[in-house]
Amino acid sequence: MALNVKVEKALNEQINKEFWSSYLYLSMANYLADQGFAGASNWMRVQFEEEQFHALRMIDYVNERNGRVILKPIKEVPATWDSLLAVFKSALEHEESITASINTCMDIAMEARDHAAAHFLQWFVNEQVEEEANVTTIVDNLLMVGETGNGVYMIDKELATRVFVAPVITN
Ligand code: FEO
Repeated sequence: MALNVKVEKALNEQINKEFWSSYLYLSMANYLADQGFAGASNWMRVQFEEEQFHALRMIDYVNERNGRVILKPIKEVPATWDSLLAVFKSALEHEESITASINTCMDIAMEARDHAAAHFLQWFVNEQVEEEANVTTIVDNLLMVGETGNGVYMIDKELATRVFVAPVITN
């Protein structure tokens, strides 16, 4: 079954959002590197890779369904934030907005009765739960220790250990 035209449009818009997300996180990584938070910068750089993976997964899917991917320009992203905490709060807000747009894609797939696309999008629905939970944990930890001193140093050390591992897709 050909990819529904409304689903194709929604996925194209989502692909642009995933690339914008990757660009946002790379900008956050650069800001954090400049502020001396090497670990948090590494975490954001891994997030940049995650977002590229998301975009490429959608591109592959549209192509697999004989749809057409049209890449649009990526809008400018912010370059500065007020603090380490502000960066992660901003990341959390962003992930919440991405969850909403993934849910919209799912609504469109369901309205179009494109069950295959809905099944494909379910992976992203689940992924968003993890995305929000990961950032929420970091925000909570930063709130717990306050913005300066040993606590932040320890959190930054922990964030330095994150590495990108491409998710194993089982369906
Ligand atoms: Fe692609 Fe962070 O959601």
